[in-house]
Amino acid sequence: MSDLVTLSKHGRVAVITIDNPPVNALNSDVRSAITYHLIKAEADEEVDAIVIIGAGRTFIAGADIREFNKITSGLQNWEPNDLNSVCYEIEENPKPVVMAIHGTAFGGGLELAMAGHYRIASPDAQVGQPEVKLGLIPGAGGTQRLPRLAGVAKAAEMCAFGEPISAQEALDLGILDRIVEGDLLSAAFAFAADVASLPLPPKVRDRNAKLAGDHSAALASVRAACGKRARLQKAPLAALEAIEAAVRLPFFDALQIESDLFARCLHSNQSKAMIHAFFGERTVSKIPGIGKEVKPRKIATAAIVGAGTMGGGIAMTYVNAGIPVILKETSQEALDKGLATIRNNYEASVQKGRLKQDFVDKAFARITPVLDYGRFAEADIIVEAVFENLALKKKIFQQLDKVAAPDAILATNTSTLDIDAIAAATSRPDRVVGHHFFSPANVMRLLEIVRGKQTSPEVLVTSLDLARRLKKVGVVAGNCRGFIGNRMFHQYISEAVFLAEDGTPPDQIDRALYNWGMAMGPLAVIDLAGLDVGWRIRQEFKHLERPGVRYAEAHDRLAECGYYGQKTRAGWYLYDDKRKPAGINPAAHEVIASIGRPQSPASAADIVDRCIYALVNEGARILEEGIAIRPVDIDIVYLNGYGFPAWRGGPMWYADTVGLPKVLDRVREFGWEPAPLLVKLVTEDKTFAALEQ
Ligand code: NAI
Repeated sequence: MSDLVTLSKHGRVAVITIDNPPVNALNSDVRSAITYHLIKAEADEEVDAIVIIGAGRTFIAGADIREFNKITSGLQNWEPNDLNSVCYEIEENPKPVVMAIHGTAFGGGLELAMAGHYRIASPDAQVGQPEVKLGLIPGAGGTQRLPRLAGVAKAAEMCAFGEPISAQEALDLGILDRIVEGDLLSAAFAFAADVASLPLPPKVRDRNAKLAGDHSAALASVRAACGKRARLQKAPLAALEAIEAAVRLPFFDALQIESDLFARCLHSNQSKAMIHAFFGERTVSKIPGIGKEVKPRKIATAAIVGAGTMGGGIAMTYVNAGIPVILKETSQEALDKGLATIRNNYEASVQKGRLKQDFVDKAFARITPVLDYGRFAEADIIVEAVFENLALKKKIFQQLDKVAAPDAILATNTSTLDIDAIAAATSRPDRVVGHHFFSPANVMRLLEIVRGKQTSPEVLVTSLDLARRLKKVGVVAGNCRGFIGNRMFHQYISEAVFLAEDGTPPDQIDRALYNWGMAMGPLAVIDLAGLDVGWRIRQEFKHLERPGVRYAEAHDRLAECGYYGQKTRAGWYLYDDKRKPAGINPAAHEVIASIGRPQSPASAADIVDRCIYALVNEGARILEEGIAIRPVDIDIVYLNGYGFPAWRGGPMWYADTVGLPKVLDRVREFGWEPAPLLVKLVTEDKTFAALEQ
């Protein structure tokens, strides 16, 4: 029998310990071993009660997600009742089974725990049914037992939104029987010994009291919230359907409905895409050719140059993660302004209940405002976030070279400039790297880590490690104009502008992409970011424009007229004082008329194909040039920095699901030059995913 699960005895209490590091995932071996030991403990006359506990840092954090991949790709059979049968084995046991929970009891872990006769937990434990985050629903009774313990409304929220709750809340709701201080195992022994002589409590599946009554209003309100929080996602609605069945039908009939819905979700493209994204976040932290022998450096103190939009947000990101920041500006006035913005942002977060006052006070106190480089030698990393101007950045890097500690990392937040040119201004180009944060930097999860020609492996590994500490997802990109994200985004936005120039109304363009799943339409995004930003960049790079290549003229013309978007209350759309859109800007129609192209509005399907395949085609070039390491790196950039829907898996994954021959046909139909890699993959009958293997 697998040694991932062991059986030991403490007096007349048997202890089944699950030891499958790092998170005690419930794989097939673990499931069979639990059953095996349960049967043994049941048969043992010297055992009166059984405790199930996790070794290491947690109880059971969920299913083994790799098994889902094996099932959907046909490598492993799906036995729908696998975990269910372990649950029955527990539930039917004539001896009391006590679940002792620390860390997390998530997904299958909570389902297993709910089959127990009792649940006790450490004060810092958490429980939850997060399956929807992978496009799934609980598949082993979670949608059936949770409403019986926590009530229908709370179970609906937990299964549909996937957010965990604390041990205290779980106790108040009735999911837990007791919270115990001190050593969990000793507490479990004592608890088990106490209950051993009592009659068994009713099985959770028979506790129907909380199902009684009319829950339709509560369920309707969770369903409505899903429409906003998980727009277009199927799993949250499936979870609600299973919970409705729990209310309506006897346990086993409803359980069958849960199993059917689970299977449908498991084989859906949405779930496959979300599982791809889940593993993708882990894959992107691996850089081929850099082994485990390269260790990250410890980052204890940071310094930031520039307290503007980005510098301020980056400072918040660091201090939120407990890393003190020395923040430099050019004048007291600019420094005061930067600090005031940071303070306002924090106040807004406290008001919205997102952060606690105490947390914010401590974070803010970690910022040391300065006007010179006097203390910069203390920093392990320096992040430059001054205006986007190469001459200025070079000058600053020359200064940093003089003041920084010898092995400090020198990072630039540039979004378009050449990292190698900036690195060349120093005597240590190997310590220079791009740290491209996204606005607002304290909110957006993506960090593009831009690798210059000479950036050292240690700097890259430290950057990835730091990204994790900053609660970001770091993706390594090569050095080119726009790196991965903005280089592709340029094609996407241009295509949206071309569609507008060719007669498709701006709101139809935005609606088509929003309805497809993008968080915002492309023209609305540009209004938010500011039309002036792209316009200034295009001015600077005018000399790089290729003759004969179509250019998004309408954008520049709007910007030239002072329509910068939300900040001027007019861009593609007009905005009211609260920045709410108030219809299309009539000037946009005039600009389009003045460009004078033949007008033929596109269908929603064409809008989507043109914009999304523009991403895919440029993504293929980026891969070919080695700017992105793998297709999944591009996907993770788009899922975390550009509002691409998680359930579509990212542009490259999506292209595979459409079928690359179809994508290539459309690219040709649109009259674009296909990326050679796209043509090659189609010729060889391969997918982008095949490049990852
Ligand atoms: P910003 O104009 O809001 O802030 C720049 C700040 O740098 C100003 O407060 C200025 O006083 C300060 N500064 C200039 N020279 C300085 C010096 N020698 N020492 C100290 N401070 C100095 O600009 P923003 O938007 O924050 O952009 C900064 C960088 O971040 C640029 O390279 C930009 O391309 C990049 N970026 C901007 C994004 C955005 O959405 N705004 C997104 C990602 C990157």
